[in-house]
Amino acid sequence: MSGSIFGKNFKVATWGESHGKALGAVVDGCPAGISLDEEMIQKYLDRRKPGQNEFSTMRDEADCVSILSGVFEGKTTGTPISMIIYNKDQHSKDYSNIKDIYRPGHADYGFDKKYGFRDYRGGGRSSGRETAGRVMAGAVALSALKELGINVTAFTSSLGGVKCDRAAISKENIFKSPIYMPDLKASGEAEELIKNAKGDLESLGGSIDCVVTGLPAGLGEPVFDKLDALLARACMSVGAVKGVEIGAGFNVANMKGSENNDNFVASNEAGIKLLEEGRLFDDKGNFISIKKETNNSGGILGGISDGDPIYISCAVKPTPSIASEQKTINRDGEETDIVIKGRHDPVIAPRAVVVVESMVGITLMDLLMTSATSKFSTLRDVFGN
Ligand SMILES: Cc1cc2nc3c(=O)[nH]c(=O)nc-3n(C[C@H](O)[C@H](O)[C@H](O)COP(=O)(O)O)c2cc1C
Repeated sequence: MSGSIFGKNFKVATWGESHGKALGAVVDGCPAGISLDEEMIQKYLDRRKPGQNEFSTMRDEADCVSILSGVFEGKTTGTPISMIIYNKDQHSKDYSNIKDIYRPGHADYGFDKKYGFRDYRGGGRSSGRETAGRVMAGAVALSALKELGINVTAFTSSLGGVKCDRAAISKENIFKSPIYMPDLKASGEAEELIKNAKGDLESLGGSIDCVVTGLPAGLGEPVFDKLDALLARACMSVGAVKGVEIGAGFNVANMKGSENNDNFVASNEAGIKLLEEGRLFDDKGNFISIKKETNNSGGILGGISDGDPIYISCAVKPTPSIASEQKTINRDGEETDIVIKGRHDPVIAPRAVVVVESMVGITLMDLLMTSATSKFSTLRDVFGN
């Protein structure tokens, strides 16, 4: 199986299966001198952990991270950073009844056809549990970005059709909501929907928004490694993410050129003030801009960051494992019914918030390192006499 390594300079490999002994990540190419310890990484992992509240699965995965290499006296050393968590609460027996049956909405059928074999215990590599590795590596990237004044903030922007009123969003409310939904009124409504969905043996979809502030202009590599293209790839690689928008996204299809174009200004004082206040959207729920009058571009033009905040939105599908009876086929191609046992999230979006944040962080860190060589003057500043 290939495809487990991401990035060109800041390279991330994740490894491990949901019901194997352990899972982890290796970051190769991380510069030396970044502050990092297990406690910092653990904070990110705890946001992804199941069983945090009644809105996520009760699987008690302790997810306690150990750093095996690449960090000395609280700083990265420039050598490969290897991180591990051991699987504890596995309940592999829960999956024995689906050994020869393909779960609807899962990768089972494709894995079997591709490899002639599949790890039926929770999906193996295709499990959402793989994203723990991304979060460990993401913590490294996000910590480095923070030291550079670049902040990546993701949150649940809708759930089960209940949308956040962007004007009501504040950064500090994200962690006041058990589902990371910073419009607390919308969060309350969505929490009720989740409880009902659980009772109905159903699951719900949602969306995750991510805002990047403090990113300078000039990040992104024309033409195949455009910033928007790489961010979309990074987010779409997260299981259950089915759509990614940048800035005005799909709504550009309904706009006129004069509406969509963002006029440049020397400096947008109102936007700068809002960002200083820690806001993510303006009073009308519009994207904040500091270099343009508006920010429909979502901070990216021609695949290169334009100095404004980056706006990304991801659509997340409902949890495919539902406890109600579904139709499917078995390995012999015969029709059968399936009832999925085990403990599953009624919604994926809240737990995937930190995964999106991580994938965005890893992508930006990788591109920052690539961009460091885009001008000869940078090399001259570092190596010239
Ligand atoms: C953080 C996270 C947790 C997930 N937890 C579950 C889960 O408990 N049950 C489930 O059926 N799917 C879960 N998934 C989704 C499946 O892994 C995913 O839908 C499945 O592998 C099929 O891939 P696709 O949706 O990308 O096509 C989770 C995904 C993520 C990102």
